[in-house]
Amino acid sequence: MAHPTSQKQWIVTGTGKGLDTLQFGDAKVPKLGDNDVLVKLHAASLNYRDLIIPRGQYPFPTKFPVVPASDGAGEVVEVGSKVSLWKKGDRVVTLFNQGHQYGDVTITASNTGVGGVVDGTLRQYASFNEIGLVRAPKNLSYAEAATLTCAGLTSWNALYGLKAIKPGETVLVQGTGGVSLFALQFAKAAGAKVIATTSSKEKEDLVKKLGAHYVLNYNKDKNWGETARKLTNGVGVDLVIEVGGAGTIAQSLTAVKYEGTIAIIGFLGGAKVENSLIECLTHICTARGVYVGSRQQMEDMVAAIEANDIHPYVDSKTFSLEQAKEAYEYQWAKGHVGKISIKIA
Ligand SMILES: NC(=O)c1ccc[n+]([C@@H]2O[C@H](COP(=O)([O-])OP(=O)(O)OC[C@H]3O[C@@H](n4cnc5c(N)ncnc54)[C@H](OP(=O)(O)O)[C@@H]3O)[C@@H](O)[C@H]2O)c1
Repeated sequence: MAHPTSQKQWIVTGTGKGLDTLQFGDAKVPKLGDNDVLVKLHAASLNYRDLIIPRGQYPFPTKFPVVPASDGAGEVVEVGSKVSLWKKGDRVVTLFNQGHQYGDVTITASNTGVGGVVDGTLRQYASFNEIGLVRAPKNLSYAEAATLTCAGLTSWNALYGLKAIKPGETVLVQGTGGVSLFALQFAKAAGAKVIATTSSKEKEDLVKKLGAHYVLNYNKDKNWGETARKLTNGVGVDLVIEVGGAGTIAQSLTAVKYEGTIAIIGFLGGAKVENSLIECLTHICTARGVYVGSRQQMEDMVAAIEANDIHPYVDSKTFSLEQAKEAYEYQWAKGHVGKISIKIA
């Protein structure tokens, strides 16, 4: 195939005007450096982070204009002269922080987020350094594989990055968004028990179907942290996947056991939390900020997804590349469950 020259892509021009800063148009296909790989993207997926970047609420580095979205899966169509990891036809997924290869995340690596600092996946073709890609799991479609970059890897890091989850332990997941449903599926595959919270009867049924052992409706049960603790015979849960922030941390502290961990991942309910860090002492627990994960962790996750034939939960409503702004609005309105898929032709 000759090097394609032009393509369709979205850009975020800046912050301050919400989704009006998202613009769709024509662009050049990037030229390849010696270590780069050209990927024909087949699918992308959105994260809450993509919704708050144009709103100026994202706490990590960004540049503007930027091609949005971190999550993408596609096929290698061209490789630079020094590329050794990939060949044409390989199925690949993007690595969120391109510089986070293994071990702890560093400040330098945190400056390499795809869709934030590095141009992202809402386009037909993208070039990445060969170490910025991971092999797509064999058992997943492009739409499924595209969801792994951010939500998938973050929940994997929450379960394995500090103290690896063990069979028989209990994990509490909050809501039915992307991160939480991945955590539910990975925790189940690890032989752990799952307590899930959600907002409605319909979603209660869905998380039960996905295998949650207990489901708590936080709109009906305001003290769900205490209920979760009772479900563990008063001991508390080993790990909380904390995505609610201001709306949930007090309950998470009530739910967590002595020496348990609260993985601080998001702030869907607001970032101004009233609880104090001293409560990690009074509850004898660890609160750990998690920022996605490394290429090494993503490779481990891919192996686990293949071994257990895990399929990410993709919302039934899918969008084309041209309809990406509608996908942003759909996720912002919390109309979705799990991950939203954007098909790229
Ligand atoms: N630190 C990181 O590296 C990292 C990586 C990925 C995501 N995140 C963050 O993690 C959070 C979740 O991301 P996501 O992409 O999974 O989001 P998402 O898919 O947009 O999650 C939305 C769902 O979360 C639930 N929810 C909404 N508000 C809530 C609240 N106040 N309390 C509890 N649950 C609530 C709702 O489900 P129900 O109706 O079922 O309750 C809602 O449908 C975001 O804050 C995101 O920025 C951080």
